[in-house]
Parts: sequence; structure tokens; C-alpha cells
Amino acid sequence: MATLRITDESFSDLGADAIIVLANKDLSLTDSGKKLDQQLKKALSRALSKDQFQALPGRTFLFYNETQNPSRVFVAASATFTTRLSGLREAACLATRAASKRGAKKLVIAFDPENEDELQAIAEGALLAGYQYQEFKSEQKKTQLKSITVCGNHKSKNLGQKAKVLSEASMFTRDLVNEPANTMNPLRLAQLAEEAAALLGLEIEVFRPEKLLNMGMNAFLSVGKGSTVPCRMIHLTYKPAEESRAHIALVGKGITFDSGGLSLKTEKGMEHMKSDMTGAAIVLACLRGAAQLHLPVTVTGLMMATENMPNASANRPGDVVEAMNGKTIEITNTDAEGRLALADGLWFAQSLSPDYLVDIATLTGAQMVSLGRMMGALLSNNEDLAGRIQRAGEKSGEPFWQLPLYEPYRYFIKSDIADIRNSSGNQEAPTIQAGLFLSEFIQHDRWAHLDIAGPSWQDREYNVFSRNASGFGVRCLLEFLSDF
Ligand code: BES
Ligand code: ZN
Ligand code: ZN
Repeated sequence: MATLRITDESFSDLGADAIIVLANKDLSLTDSGKKLDQQLKKALSRALSKDQFQALPGRTFLFYNETQNPSRVFVAASATFTTRLSGLREAACLATRAASKRGAKKLVIAFDPENEDELQAIAEGALLAGYQYQEFKSEQKKTQLKSITVCGNHKSKNLGQKAKVLSEASMFTRDLVNEPANTMNPLRLAQLAEEAAALLGLEIEVFRPEKLLNMGMNAFLSVGKGSTVPCRMIHLTYKPAEESRAHIALVGKGITFDSGGLSLKTEKGMEHMKSDMTGAAIVLACLRGAAQLHLPVTVTGLMMATENMPNASANRPGDVVEAMNGKTIEITNTDAEGRLALADGLWFAQSLSPDYLVDIATLTGAQMVSLGRMMGALLSNNEDLAGRIQRAGEKSGEPFWQLPLYEPYRYFIKSDIADIRNSSGNQEAPTIQAGLFLSEFIQHDRWAHLDIAGPSWQDREYNVFSRNASGFGVRCLLEFLSDF
């Protein structure tokens, strides 16, 4: 990752070899851009007005200046279909990618952010531009970009640190999710959590199957029965040095590979199911981030790590298991495994008496069908909590759209022979059906469920999100945790 510096001085070129000018939506320049334009004897504004360059999301404009140093100026407009913050983050990201591709080493970003949120968004965009997953490439491309300086007239000391931690959390999540399932299994997730805990002073307890059996977590255990790798429930705790303002529990779905089990997925459906542990990766990234930012809240993280595979010991459609809370579940579809893992995780989390309870999961294919890959689904029994998450998502550029926990649909999860069933086989509002299933394990009045099946994985680069694992949701949750 390139180093980031935020200076509260007004724009100067600072010996950069490339400059990014962020323009307003209407392509007008802010004071910093105008200052550069003066230095270039108006060549920049002339070029901009002559060119076909339009302020559209995703467009950058490269201006070569023959006579002066630095010779390259990249202009990106904060044009957006969504929010101004998203537009700025995207513009900074695209222009940084363009500059980096053309060999820039020392980059300065000229803009005059109106507030600290804008400055943070620009810094995040620039940092996230550098993400590449090259772990398994024989030849790794090295980026030359060494330093990024963002000019902005705001004095907050922690802003650069916050942008760094959030960007790093996003890239950490992507690395975990991009790692293939033949190495990224529950044991590896536990090992990575141990490493993070040792490094950052988090408390950690890793629960093995024998222990989980004693605790009665049969719904979670049943998911991993068909796998040769044992499951793990990973329990992390971050406690602030100062007095804690709130206790937030995060529960993440950590299916390191979802084959569907005996209700086997199709070839296409299974393609990127290594990503089914995104929720757990985000939970780990949030615990790390909370510690790095010294947030004044207690955070519990539960990673429900297991693999969903078919073998002779696997769950069979029709099997009945008893969950930790005593409810019996008919497993009508072994591919609806995420809700089985979360059911016990959520029940256990409540025994720790958190003030807020949030789970995050790549839970239903229908989430992607209904909301696409650019927003997550939010289901909650508490409007204050829902609002907090939605505001955090708006700020981070990871929007969550609320769906109702509509009671009349609860009949879908009724079973003929057990208390409930994990799948109805009915295609009416499957994301809501999944939320209602989880609610069977909730006795807490501040609970939110985040379904990120769509946005966790991108088919193409979009805004600051990389192709493949995107890390969507982790900056939202860190913003949420930062707001107590
Ligand atoms: N992991 C999948 C959901 C998923 C699908 C995530 C596509 C990302 C992309 C989940 O375990 C699953 O298979 N859900 C089923 C539930 C159904 C059987 C009730 C689904 O959505 O089809
Ligand atoms: Zn599944
Ligand atoms: Zn799954």
C-alpha cells in the first residue's frame, strides 16, 4: 500500500510526478485546481473545455503538460449517480488507478474538500485503487506508486489513520475471500484470527466440534458433517482501554466453500462459492479495525467457520436437528446452510448480553436478484439500529436497502414434522424468508441482519470495488462501530 499523507496546507505540487485534480460534478475546478491552472497559464482549463471529456462516473481525463513539471495531470470529476461522497471516492480511485498505470510514483491530489468526510473519502479512494490479488501469480506486478498526498484544509489528526484502517480492512477482507477454498478452510480462518488477536491484543477463544457438541450447537455442527475439515467457531473480543460506550456483537457466516451439500449446486452456482465466508472475513477485519482505531466500544466477533460438502456423513434433505435454543429444524435443503450456522451463532452471541447484535452473511442468491451487486439487504427489528447502519453505509458508499421482516411470510418456514424448516422451496421473497428464519433465534430487541450475497462479489470493477472479492460492507460496519 502506498503511504498516505494528508496535508492541511493548500495545494502545491510538492515535487510530485503526477497530479490528480478532482473537479466538481459540473467540471468546474475548486481553488486548488484553479491554482494549478494558473501555474499552467490556463492550459488545463483550455484543454478541458476543448475536449469531449464529460463528467460521467468512471471517466478520467489525462492532460500532458509539455513545458512544466509535473508533466501529467489527471482530472476526474466527482460525477455520480448516487452520493457526493461516493462520487469523490470513485473519482480519486479512478484517477489514482490511471496515474499508477502510467508509472506515477509520487502523487498529489488537489481538491478542496468541504468537510472531513470528503477528505476521508478521497483518501480511501486513492488507497483502494492499488488493490490486486496476486498471491498465486508466478510473476507479481509491482506498482511504482509510493506516496499519495491529499491536500485538504482540515485539521483532524485521525482522518488519515481512519482512511488507512478502513481501506486496509477492505483489502484484508478481499484477500481472505479471494484465497481459494483448498487453503482457506476453517482451520486457516482460526489461525488468521489467532494471528490478528496476538498482534492487536484481542481476546480469542476457538471452539472445536467436541465443545460445540457439548454446548448443543447442532445446527451449526450439522453443516460441516460432510466435510473432512473440522469446523471452528471463532470468538474474538475487543475491549477498549477507556470506558466502553456500548457492546456490539457481530456474527459472520463463514462457509469456506458452499457446494450446496447433497442439495448440490450447479456448476455455475458453485463457481465462486469460496466467497461464502465473506461475512466471517468482514467480522475479523472489523475486530482488527476496531483495535487499530482504539474505538471506545466493546466488540464481540463470532466467525462461524465451516465447509458445506456432500459425503456419506453429510446432512440429508429431511434430516432434523435441534439447535442450541432447543428449536428443532427440518433441513429440507442442505444448501440453505448459512442460516443453520448463524442460528447457533446468534443464540450464543445473545448469551454475552450485547447492546446491539448484527449478523452479516452471503445468505441468499435472491438478495442479488432483488438488489443487484451494488447494495446489500438489511433486515432489522429495530429502526434506530437500521438507521445507524444505513447512515454508515451511505457514508462508506456501501448502501444497504431495508427489506421487511414481514410476519405473514413466516408460514413459509413452518415444518410438518419439526418446529421450523430451513427452506420452503418457494421462490417468494427468499431473502425475507431467510431473515424470518434467523429471527426464530433472536430474543433481542436490537438486531440487524445484513445479506451481502450480491455485492460481496463483483463481475467487473465497480467504483472502488475490485473484480471478484469486493470487501463490500466492512467499511460500513467500521463506520457504524465508530459512531458511538
Ligand atoms: N451461499 C448461498 C447464497 C449465495 C448464492 C451467495 C449466490 C452468493 C451468491 C446460500 O447458502 C444458498 O445456497 N442459499 C440458497 C437458499 C435456498 C436453498 C433456500 C439460495 O439462495 O438459493
Ligand atoms: Zn448454500
Ligand atoms: Zn451459503
